[in-house]
Amino acid sequence: MLVIFAVGWLMLFTVSTQASIQPSEDKESQQDICNEISETNTEGLKVVCSSVRSLDDVMVHIAPEKLKKITSITYTQSNFTSFTLDSLADLPSLESLSFNQSFVAEWLPPKAPSVPKVTSLILIDCWNDYDLLSPKRNPSLRFKNDMFDGLQSLEHLYLVNCYVSNMTAEPFVNLTSLEKLHITGGSGIGCEQEMEWVINWMEAGKAEVSNDTICFVARDRRQGGRGLLVMSMSYSFKDHPFLLIMGHRKETNEHCPKECTCVVEGYNFKRNGLRTKNPIINIYCDNASLTALPDIPPRSTRASFSGNNITDITKVFTSENYRMISSVLLQHNQISHLDSDLFVKFLNGRSQDFHINLSHNNFSTLSARQLLSLYKGVDSKNSYHKPLIDLQFNPWDCSDCSFIPAFQELVYHQFYYREKGPKFYDNIRCTEGNHYFSGQMIVKLDVESLCAPDPPVLQTIDIINILLGLIIILFVANFAHNVYQYRQNSKLPWIITKVPCC
Ligand SMILES: *[C@@H]1O[C@H](CO)[C@@H](O)[C@H](O)[C@H]1NC(C)=O
Ligand SMILES: *[C@@H]1O[C@H](CO)[C@@H](O)[C@H](O)[C@H]1NC(C)=O
Ligand SMILES: *[C@@H]1O[C@H](CO)[C@@H](O)[C@H](O)[C@H]1NC(C)=O
Ligand SMILES: *[C@@H]1O[C@H](CO)[C@@H](O)[C@H](O)[C@H]1NC(C)=O
Ligand SMILES: *[C@@H]1O[C@H](CO)[C@@H](O)[C@H](O)[C@H]1NC(C)=O
Repeated sequence: MLVIFAVGWLMLFTVSTQASIQPSEDKESQQDICNEISETNTEGLKVVCSSVRSLDDVMVHIAPEKLKKITSITYTQSNFTSFTLDSLADLPSLESLSFNQSFVAEWLPPKAPSVPKVTSLILIDCWNDYDLLSPKRNPSLRFKNDMFDGLQSLEHLYLVNCYVSNMTAEPFVNLTSLEKLHITGGSGIGCEQEMEWVINWMEAGKAEVSNDTICFVARDRRQGGRGLLVMSMSYSFKDHPFLLIMGHRKETNEHCPKECTCVVEGYNFKRNGLRTKNPIINIYCDNASLTALPDIPPRSTRASFSGNNITDITKVFTSENYRMISSVLLQHNQISHLDSDLFVKFLNGRSQDFHINLSHNNFSTLSARQLLSLYKGVDSKNSYHKPLIDLQFNPWDCSDCSFIPAFQELVYHQFYYREKGPKFYDNIRCTEGNHYFSGQMIVKLDVESLCAPDPPVLQTIDIINILLGLIIILFVANFAHNVYQYRQNSKLPWIITKVPCC
């Protein structure tokens, strides 16, 4: 007896915890009801049913003579097991079906010889996927590919505040009569690339999306309500307007160079937890036989051009579409010149969080002195917001003393401020086969003695020697003069007689 009681109590508990997601169950005790809400002037009848158990419950609650007039039914907080127009075969005038806060499933193709021609289906706040939760912590909606196959006469499909967890085009393309898909509020998951069909449909006039439709990241109930994708939590479109994101995707695709792949990745969090204002747009053009930098999509933030034959990188610092770039990878190219003036100017007008990889190129020298100005007055706390220039594996010319001292300082700065990073200064070395310190690490060169100014021709000691020599010569000359005078005049010059020493 006690056991039965306990089990009963447990079941009651289970039902009540599920009540929020299966609203029909908590109204179980209430009477199922369908009400006529208005008689339109065209004889049509609108009916609203709440908490019914079956589509055809409407037949039980509405007087038989009125059934033929019903043009619209709204089911609210209802949970059915079967979705087929066969259940509504006795309602010949039915055109519009709405489901509000209800479970919806796949519409099976009807078997009855004649079923109503339903042209409009409206899903408000509906769900069918209990695993993935919407931002409101309600279950989301997942369309199977044959979801609407049983509604072949559908002309308008409205999705209002529904959170669709995998919104591909397949469920809709098979609806040959569909004129328009209307999406209001709610959203499609993550605003992934696969959703671009919606934008194409909008342009073709086949879809309409309101500006309050957002991208969302479904929470997975099976993982205790954590985000569906771990990455997406720090790097996603969550809560950004669907239209804005899809606009970025379309624009990026249209401007993507044909040799490249362009991906709108999401918005990332800054360290203070706020989202950045611009999306991360990555451009991949590796090993594409490029000889020059291509024009890239507007607002691109990262670009990779490694393994090409690029020689000129002026475009990075001058082209409008490169203005938001924070990372540009140019390793394994043929670059030998970096315009420091342009580089410094480019960085001064923006955040200096900038990484450029110029390793494995053809640099032998660089205007290091100008670049150094970027590191002046930096304390180590701010160091990660300073540009990082990867200069490994280039044929650096160590014979040039107008370059090497400043360059060494530049390499040192980069190493000093990024000591937690890879020790890439190991590979910044003098070019091989050059008798000037061939293959040696630049940071280890003894630049002071290497580039010390030539010693002066005369050193202090020499000058003293010369002076002493001169004095001796003077004494000797003076003595000779005195001797000469004495021989000529038989007397010393009068001044000698006055000086005691000589
Ligand atoms: C949907 O149902 C809720 C109650 O469950 C009601 O408040 C709301 O007005 C309904 N929305 C529409 C559009 O019928
Ligand atoms: C489209 O509908 C036809 C029949 O109506 C069906 O055979 C086909 O499998 C459907 N295609 C998809 C992708 O559901
Ligand atoms: C979405 O559905 C398509 C086909 O129905 C499937 O290939 C894809 O993996 C699904 N994506 C997700 C994220 O569930
Ligand atoms: C959305 O559109 C409505 C009018 O259709 C407009 O009033 C509103 O400002 C728009 N909101 C945004 C965020 O663009
Ligand atoms: C590398 O630069 C040197 C001059 O510094 C030039 O002579 C040489 O042709 C360049 N090599 C390539 C592959 O561009």
